[in-house]
Amino acid sequence: EMKSPIVVVSNRLPFILCKDDDGELQRKPCAGGLVTAVAPVVIQCGGLWVGWPGIHMDDPHQSVPESDPGDKGPSAGLKSEQVVVVHVEEQIFDDYYNGCCNATFWPLFHSMPDRAVFVADMWEAYSTVNAMFAYKTVEALKKLKAQEEEGEERIPLVWIHDYHLMLAANHIRQQCEEENLKCNLGFFLHIPFPPWDIFRLFPWDDDVLQGILGCDMVGFHIEDYCRNFLDCCQRRLGFRVDRVHNLVDVAGRTVKVRALPIGIPYKRFEEMANAAPRALQSSQQIILGVDRLDYTKGLVNRIRSFERLLEKHPEHLEVVKLMQVAVPSRTDVKEYQQLKEQIDLEVGRINGRFSTANWSPIRYIFGCISQDELAAYYRDSSVALVTPLRDGMNLVAKEYVACQVDKPGVLILSLFAGAGETMHEALLVNPYELDGVADTLHRALTMPDDEREMRMYHLKKRERTMDVDFWLSSFLKAMGSLDFGEEQDE
Ligand code: UDP
Ligand code: G6P
Repeated sequence: EMKSPIVVVSNRLPFILCKDDDGELQRKPCAGGLVTAVAPVVIQCGGLWVGWPGIHMDDPHQSVPESDPGDKGPSAGLKSEQVVVVHVEEQIFDDYYNGCCNATFWPLFHSMPDRAVFVADMWEAYSTVNAMFAYKTVEALKKLKAQEEEGEERIPLVWIHDYHLMLAANHIRQQCEEENLKCNLGFFLHIPFPPWDIFRLFPWDDDVLQGILGCDMVGFHIEDYCRNFLDCCQRRLGFRVDRVHNLVDVAGRTVKVRALPIGIPYKRFEEMANAAPRALQSSQQIILGVDRLDYTKGLVNRIRSFERLLEKHPEHLEVVKLMQVAVPSRTDVKEYQQLKEQIDLEVGRINGRFSTANWSPIRYIFGCISQDELAAYYRDSSVALVTPLRDGMNLVAKEYVACQVDKPGVLILSLFAGAGETMHEALLVNPYELDGVADTLHRALTMPDDEREMRMYHLKKRERTMDVDFWLSSFLKAMGSLDFGEEQDE
């Protein structure tokens, strides 16, 4: 039970607005785990969601429509007065989203600095947009305060998400002080936080740290990211850090830093896997890959590792198939366009090299698949090949595990995904080592049933407990926002 209203601040709202045939605005629900977990809590406590609606609206004063009567998704119950839309002029949004977020922070935070661009105008747009989000959030807090009943004091929790909004907390804190508004500020980063020696390549790195430190608590997926952040606070800002309790001293204030690994809606995936009709022919062994088309996901290495498997272990020819789903993503960014072309070429080359009359080695789907359908693919694949070069967590690995409701498959997982920190019973690989991945694929395809079952049993047990609801309540508990068991370790 929430003690106080929660205000979620994220780049994307839990739905996208689009125009129907009559030009009327409509909500198109998003399916992510974050929305599934957080939207019901926002609805239950009468909270708010601040974000970008996914389109540029001609009239910024136009109100958000209520959800469709047929919408059964998690955000359907979010009333239009609970939605705070942030409108950003197109050019500024482009410099913010395609520029600073996805051409600078995304590659840098994934420790790929050569792909990052450092452009003052983009950084300026980022600051501007963060200030706009902060302004809207403070307005929303005023509204909540006005709704408070006599004698009641409910201090709202403002929960900011991800690398798009690293400066928002500090703005919100300052404005709240000026306006005498109270709130608790939390931040969760859904991507890695890089080592300080990478982080300091960003010319305005101190401002980013100060922005995040505007919070009362900062959450990351794993301890390594926490450590990297603490290193930066110490070495870049000279702040005192307590590495035993993971605290940062900021001019008399203490900021908590916590590792809170996100999970998935486990039961929902298990149910979908039980309900879905057969998706794949059982005569073939399927190796499955599911990713946004992103260079951090290691798709080129993955396809080449599969090629090495076919070279080294020809007994798999005409028997196994790599099925790769690649969801179009951030298609206005150059690096993503180039990657698309490179993958097209590699898939064509390998299919050309090995295909026979009845078989081709790679089935490549460039498009998005619903999670219901995905559940069936997960269930019916012999192997999931999850080999990002770097990934904050990776939910696909967890969803695959939840969907092993029949004869279990084998999870191959990159050492460089956050998920690799806890999913010990997966076959862990270095995605840069193509031969190693090929050998691991062979091992997975020929693994005895009892070993598959043993590994999957432990993987499932962990993900069932450490699901997305567990993550959510851990965060709220660490913020002191739940009615039971406030954290008492400090
Ligand atoms: N996903 C989906 N349809 C697809 C491919 C992926 O709904 O065709 C979902 C998938 O179920 C997962 C999410 O997209 O929940 C991807 O999350 P992940 O953490 O693996 O990677 P991210 O895209 O956040 O980097
Ligand atoms: C990652 C980020 C999210 C982001 C998602 C999709 O998971 O951590 O914040 O929403 O990718 O990317 P997009 O740019 O389409 O929002």
